[in-house]
Amino acid sequence: MTERGRLITLEGGEGVGKSSNVAFVTAWLKARGLEVVATREPGGTPRGEAIRELLLDPAPAEPLCSDAELLLMFAARAQHLAEKIRPALARGAWVVCDRFTDATYAYQGAGRGLDNQRIATLEHFVQAGLTPDLTILLDMPVEAASRRVSSRLDSGGGQRDRFEREQRDFFAAVREGYRQRAEAEPGRFARVDAARSLEAVQTQLDDLLETRIASWR
Ligand code: TMP
Repeated sequence: MTERGRLITLEGGEGVGKSSNVAFVTAWLKARGLEVVATREPGGTPRGEAIRELLLDPAPAEPLCSDAELLLMFAARAQHLAEKIRPALARGAWVVCDRFTDATYAYQGAGRGLDNQRIATLEHFVQAGLTPDLTILLDMPVEAASRRVSSRLDSGGGQRDRFEREQRDFFAAVREGYRQRAEAEPGRFARVDAARSLEAVQTQLDDLLETRIASWR
């Protein structure tokens, strides 16, 4: 029987450098001969990406209520799991996902103030026990991360999406939400100080992957 692949997720607020580090982790695993599927949430499948457009639309025709936002996150996730993540894991591929359910607890739970119990109910319904094997939390102060987002946008990185338009208090709550998740599950989470240079972050990722993966063998 093929051994099931592993699910690695990267999390953190806006501007912490997730995309570059998803690419780094993906390349690191591929260099060790593993089949790797790099993907993201919300999105990852054609229908999931259509839901993403609804969620990120900076100027929606009507405001999106928090419950609809929560349900759309899980609708995209259900499709993603069915079409891409579960089949990949079943054939032994490793999945590197840019955000997953911890983002729902951080953004919809801590950020929007939705009850964690309701999120847990949806998590159970949609995931039926599937959780990441490793979650890398890229953490840095909100002000510095927000300056990175602004400079990316100033250098032609498009317009702010619906989440990027939120205020400092929202992002401070999101950061705190992630911090609590990491504290509650130290075996799954690895916190990385993302305020440092990309090179320093990736040196830590290199060590981290080496030790975690060795511990799974
Ligand atoms: P991205 O810009 O990192 O690709 O993510 C899109 C936005 O979606 C980001 O602002 C965080 C938000 N998000 C949630 O609010 N809840 C979720 O469950 C996920 C996966 C993302």
